[in-house]
Amino acid sequence: MALKITVIGTGYLGATHAAAMAELGFEVLGLDVVPEKIEMLQRGEVPMYEPGLEELLRKHVAGIEGSSGRLRFTMDFAEVAEFGDIHFVCVNTPQKHGEYACDMSYVDAAFASLAPHLTGPALVVGKSTVPVGSADRLARTLTGLAPAGDEVELAWNPEFLREGFAVQDTLHPDRIVAGIRSERAEKLLREVYATPLSEGTPFVVTDFPTAELVKTAANSFLATKISFINAMAEVCEAGGGDVVKLAEAIGHDDRIGKKFLRAGIGFGGGCLPKDIRAFMARAGELGADQALTFLREIDSINMRRRGQMVEMTREALGGSSFLGKRIAVLGATFKPDSDDVRDSPALNVAGQIHLQGGQVTVYDPKGMDNARRLFPTLGYAETAVDAVRGAHAVLHLTEWREFRELDPAALGEVATDRVVLDGRNALDPSVWRAAGWTYRAMGRPTA
Ligand code: UDX
Repeated sequence: MALKITVIGTGYLGATHAAAMAELGFEVLGLDVVPEKIEMLQRGEVPMYEPGLEELLRKHVAGIEGSSGRLRFTMDFAEVAEFGDIHFVCVNTPQKHGEYACDMSYVDAAFASLAPHLTGPALVVGKSTVPVGSADRLARTLTGLAPAGDEVELAWNPEFLREGFAVQDTLHPDRIVAGIRSERAEKLLREVYATPLSEGTPFVVTDFPTAELVKTAANSFLATKISFINAMAEVCEAGGGDVVKLAEAIGHDDRIGKKFLRAGIGFGGGCLPKDIRAFMARAGELGADQALTFLREIDSINMRRRGQMVEMTREALGGSSFLGKRIAVLGATFKPDSDDVRDSPALNVAGQIHLQGGQVTVYDPKGMDNARRLFPTLGYAETAVDAVRGAHAVLHLTEWREFRELDPAALGEVATDRVVLDGRNALDPSVWRAAGWTYRAMGRPTA
């Protein structure tokens, strides 16, 4: 009989995972403790913007016309325990308030709520990003609290999906990492992922700590790559070099590679920043803090870029104050094809300029509602052209395709001054300069 799957936590990770599991042919029951989320999902609506996810949900959510009916939602842990052979835990692990460490309270609550209902054999699979050592502790919680005792087993299976590509990354992952303690757990996970495995996706079997570490190591490496090229941008700014050319040239070496070498205002979002901090905090607890002190530098290079963008803007406006200056900000989300504004470098820069007296008007294709909620005092416009109207400077801070397709000549007609600062090195300088704009970018020569 086909495996029945439950997904606990229906945020980014969980909603996508649940829909993907239904797409792979399983019966799926998703659970969340937030009633509004469950109501939306039951109607086939996604609580965030993620390309392709709503279509996939509507294809499978029971009760929607023409759907497979394989995907349902609930708020009841007893129902989840009764239904599933495999329970994926996909709740979030944010940064603790005022600390670097990760807040495990949602993970702990999910295990504490599920375990007492597990009266028969089950595999619980952790997908959340957690500090190394958590799986070992949670395995003990599980067998201690579950009436079925040792028949309930844990596996750790980190998730590497990128926002904006969540559906694609879940259905066709680069690799599947399985932290397991028994052949039975491995067999069950191979069954769940039979389709991607048949497409050739590598399946890496590890112990618990390695599985937990793979995720934080991968994110630390990516953060390091971005901060490396941003450090090179700082040196280029000081020495007159062009970081875009530099990245292109070093990227031809396939040991280095071209990806994740786009210099700009740096990384943000719900994962990279908090994951590297939680990793440092955990290494400290384990007495291995020296091994990760470099991540502190990665973090500060990254945060420094936001300040540098503010200073570049000040300089472009004549070098003194922002008072009386109108600044158009194109982009609010932390990356394109997402409506996520968590720790967004773009909004951070917009906020800093606003706090220093600049009149900031923000436009973003998908992030407006979230941005307004976080920064209600900034100005907002309904279109890019409206944001630019009357501006003394235009800041390009999130590299949406829409912004690359703007017509610099038409924008020049409505701007007060033709000054554009590219915080993502994604616009074509020659096109903007040809339309009479002063184009400046991070880590690149001014003219
Ligand atoms: C990241 C990891 O990539 C993913 O594997 C993990 O599961 C979750 O965290 P995500 O947060 O969606 O995914 O974003 P990602 O595409 O990694 O980008 C992170 C940030 O780095 C964005 O703010 C992006 O704008 C920035 N970035 C990326 C750069 O500044 N330069 C680059 O070259 C690449």
